[in-house]
Amino acid sequence: MLTTIRVNGVDRAVEVDPRTSLLDFLRERVGLKGTKKGCDHGQCGACTVLVNGVRINACLSLAVMHDGDEVLTVEGLADGEALHPVQQAFLSEDAFQCGYCTPGQICSTVGLLAEVAAGQPSEVTADLAGPVTLSDAEIRERMSGNICRCSAYPQILAAVRRAAGAAA
Ligand code: FES
Ligand code: FES
Repeated sequence: MLTTIRVNGVDRAVEVDPRTSLLDFLRERVGLKGTKKGCDHGQCGACTVLVNGVRINACLSLAVMHDGDEVLTVEGLADGEALHPVQQAFLSEDAFQCGYCTPGQICSTVGLLAEVAAGQPSEVTADLAGPVTLSDAEIRERMSGNICRCSAYPQILAAVRRAAGAAA
């Protein structure tokens, strides 16, 4: 099935089996290996990408469902040599060890910041009417879909905090 997805600003028209996940489309058919396959079952968040600005697990979504969509992967975040502020925050806070979960953590943080800017509450938001205050509890909750087997969580928390400060 011919499927055209705009990936990091470039249209990618690929003939795919309808069972192909978005993750395999990106990694195996387009050759962008930055998005990682951890569990392939929606449990780890390593495959997180942004689809039309919203973060999703690419392993849980079929490529054919995204015909005409805009996908942003970790490869599309930097502006030439200049890192995206979220990438810079992870670097500044040393928020990784092996780095396998990091592309997903970074894409998830980009999505998180957009959700907070749009005033979207989470499970732990106390005041559903006002703007969201990005407390540590909010960050932990909103990043809970991204597992780090190296357990770099304190640094990841600090990186999200730093990125939120840069975005404010
Ligand atoms: S690889 Fe998609 S959630 Fe783990
Ligand atoms: S840095 Fe190794 S899994 Fe997170």
